[in-house]
Amino acid sequence: MSEHSDENDGDASDTSRRTFMKAAGVATTASAVGAGTGAAAADDDDDDGDEDGRDDRVEALLDDLTLEQKVGQMTQVAVGSFDPEPDGSNVPDSFGVDTVGEYFSELGVGSILSGGAAPPSFDAQTVVEGVNALQEYNVEQSDHGIPFLYGVDATHGNGLLEGATVFPQRMNMGATRNPALVEEAERHTSDSTASMGAHWTFAPTTDLQRDPRWGRFFEGISEDPKLEGDFSRARTRGLEDDDRLTSCVKHFAAYSIPNNGNDRAPASTSLRDLRTNVLPPYREALKAEPGTVMVNSGAVNGKPAHASHWLLTRLLRDHYGFEGLVVSDYDDLHRLVTNHDYVPDFRAGTREAINAGVDMYMIGNGGSAPGPVQFVETVVSLVEDGEIPEERIDEAVRNVLELKVDLGLFEAPTVDESRIGGVLGGARETSEEMARQSLVLLENAEETLPLSGDESVLLAGPGVDGDGNNTRALMQHGGWTLGWQGPSNGGPYPRQRLLSDELEARVGSLTHVPTYYDNSTWWAGQGTGENQQSDENGDFAFTDEQESAMRSAAPDADVVVLVLGEGSHNEGFGDRDELVLDESQQRLVDVVAEETDGETPVVGVVLAGSPRGSAETYDELDALLFAGQPGSDGGAAIAEALVGEYNPSGKLAFSWPRNPGTPVGTTPVQYYRYPPTSTGATDNTPLYRFGHGLSYTDFEYGEPSLSASGVDPSETDEVTLNVDVTNVGDRAGDHVVEVFDTQSYGSVLQPLRRLLGYDRVSLEPGETATVDLSLDLAALAVVPGDLLGLAPKVVEAGDYELTVGDDGPTTTLTVDSTGSTDDHDRFPVGGGPGKGHGPGGNGKGGNGKGREGDGDGDDEPDMDDVLDLLREVTGSS
Ligand code: NOJ
Repeated sequence: MSEHSDENDGDASDTSRRTFMKAAGVATTASAVGAGTGAAAADDDDDDGDEDGRDDRVEALLDDLTLEQKVGQMTQVAVGSFDPEPDGSNVPDSFGVDTVGEYFSELGVGSILSGGAAPPSFDAQTVVEGVNALQEYNVEQSDHGIPFLYGVDATHGNGLLEGATVFPQRMNMGATRNPALVEEAERHTSDSTASMGAHWTFAPTTDLQRDPRWGRFFEGISEDPKLEGDFSRARTRGLEDDDRLTSCVKHFAAYSIPNNGNDRAPASTSLRDLRTNVLPPYREALKAEPGTVMVNSGAVNGKPAHASHWLLTRLLRDHYGFEGLVVSDYDDLHRLVTNHDYVPDFRAGTREAINAGVDMYMIGNGGSAPGPVQFVETVVSLVEDGEIPEERIDEAVRNVLELKVDLGLFEAPTVDESRIGGVLGGARETSEEMARQSLVLLENAEETLPLSGDESVLLAGPGVDGDGNNTRALMQHGGWTLGWQGPSNGGPYPRQRLLSDELEARVGSLTHVPTYYDNSTWWAGQGTGENQQSDENGDFAFTDEQESAMRSAAPDADVVVLVLGEGSHNEGFGDRDELVLDESQQRLVDVVAEETDGETPVVGVVLAGSPRGSAETYDELDALLFAGQPGSDGGAAIAEALVGEYNPSGKLAFSWPRNPGTPVGTTPVQYYRYPPTSTGATDNTPLYRFGHGLSYTDFEYGEPSLSASGVDPSETDEVTLNVDVTNVGDRAGDHVVEVFDTQSYGSVLQPLRRLLGYDRVSLEPGETATVDLSLDLAALAVVPGDLLGLAPKVVEAGDYELTVGDDGPTTTLTVDSTGSTDDHDRFPVGGGPGKGHGPGGNGKGGNGKGREGDGDGDDEPDMDDVLDLLREVTGSS
């Protein structure tokens, strides 16, 4: 589903047409627009405890706005071009600035977005000036002069501008096991994104990495809930750093577990799995107080997330205490009709979503889908007909306006246009260090790596930039980089350091034999009904000429480096049934194997957003470095690792399936699944385990000890494990120490292993460090009881075997008594403190914590609670 695929916006044409560029007089000075241009000013003299006057200002505006204007504030429209009438080839008219200008003056829309990392221009100065001009126009033309919020997808750095630093993708972030470094990167993203005039980034993605067939696998930090939660919290904190930028925890909740591996397919899971694994990362991220949350486009256990009052109101607001803005995903009210076939028409979908708790509709400017005018009219009529309570509208608009006040938009609607120049392309050291730490050395037979640096290197494969025009550098960035599906052939590009240049500077000589790669196939079938995606995520070839060039160059090489993998991709266009490398890459590997005949070492580097490749390929390689999508400084980091200037230290944050060529069998597979590992004839163990990652040196552990051998989870949520780590090899290196629970018994199945804590330590050869690891007892929590999975989550009493590293020394942690690490983790069943409207709320009201079994909050676990529970579970009312 392209976000630019709509042909026309029919529904703006009824409104009187004003030409935005004429009315705005093009980029007038930012200073012309300031506080008080019609917007209710803050009353600083208030005596109601509202120190910054926010509430007074918001309430005054709410009093003044008509119902239509309120719904306008709940509407987010797309801007894809600063041309009044875009050429229509890629950006439809309805995304042009003329139409958007009308949405301000006629509808008073509250927000704009440039989705898909595709702003109206990739030139930073053009963007910031254009956004300022739009804001000036909006503030002058709309009735109350309320500034708009501008949202973008700055998901791994500000990947929207030519020359920007793009950080390694999310799957690389997880491999670093270094949330502090990632937080530092997000602070740069915050600064850079705010400096270009945006106020809101749709990040962090907090969905667990569950299924590598899914086209958004690369957007997950890890399959592990603790890692996903730790990083998402750190990322949220980093992104919230600039006062003018807010973050968006998405996609709430359970977006990443589509039943069939396809984007926006429904998820079926159990309440036990949701509560133990899927929901905790979102909750962790919410602790860093993001301004906004985006809703999962899919459905969970038979209920579309956008229509789930339980998810968006009872869980998110009443139980988790979220007070910010809930935004829909793109076009998703309409998708309740088209994708989910859940309601017969847009009116019904709109009613369900707003009542469930959606505050703002990210709408696709019309075309084949209902546009902003229809949305506003539909909501107004639903309110007039009593199908949406007006208080729900006020609540939603309050959330929008409060965010605008918090971001200081009323005081300063526009941004200093000189700021972006000093920020663009910065944070180089952070970016390079992240890229380095994210590299995972999967194989290294007979110490093939590191290279000595004197070798004649033969370099080939689709991941290498080629033909003098940088076309292949695309694979190092991935989706959401200067375009929805990643950068296009021929650019523009982010700031980037390429492997061929970086390696050439570090070895005796370098010969590059290009092979063919084109990343535009995802678009090729657009509108024709033909398959628009390929399992390979790109179009690859190894032509006869290229093959003979390889055959003649290979015998002269001291070492062959093949950069393999998949093309950049995104959302549904990235979905695939197989994870093997495409045929031409397999043939390249075979040809090299034939020509080198086991004499010359062959090194593979994989650039991919998923576990690409199988044992069939890897058996022919002597060493294998998984580089993921390492971003701007990926080329330098890889070259450093190949020659040993950097000693690889990344750890896989997901399990690499053993048989990725088959759409059934071991995909998906998680390391924390329940026993048994293998049944029947197939081997269900992963090819590379979660936590796998080699080094050029060796590390040894001493005997671990615990700060307390017995703990009570109601008293503490942490215990410290101390362990000595020694670098027993002859090279300096970083080592990630991980502690797993590897054996325990309880009232329900225990996962094979689960990660409780991790840390990164740098050691010179022969050096020993004592590492104090904080172990998170919450990671041991289970939902006890029989099948339903409704009981409060607890850490059960018993002995837990802890193992340091993959199979290092062990120790035993005793949990003395069953208890919860978080008293407030009372799962909302029964009435809950519902608002008394919308499906799902029974208006009884609960206290959100209460005693076990006390669903209605009357402090008595009684028959009423049981009946409530039954109604909840059976869906009867
Ligand atoms: C749809 C995607 O699902 C979401 O992640 C993104 O933020 C929006 N489009 C805007 O581009």
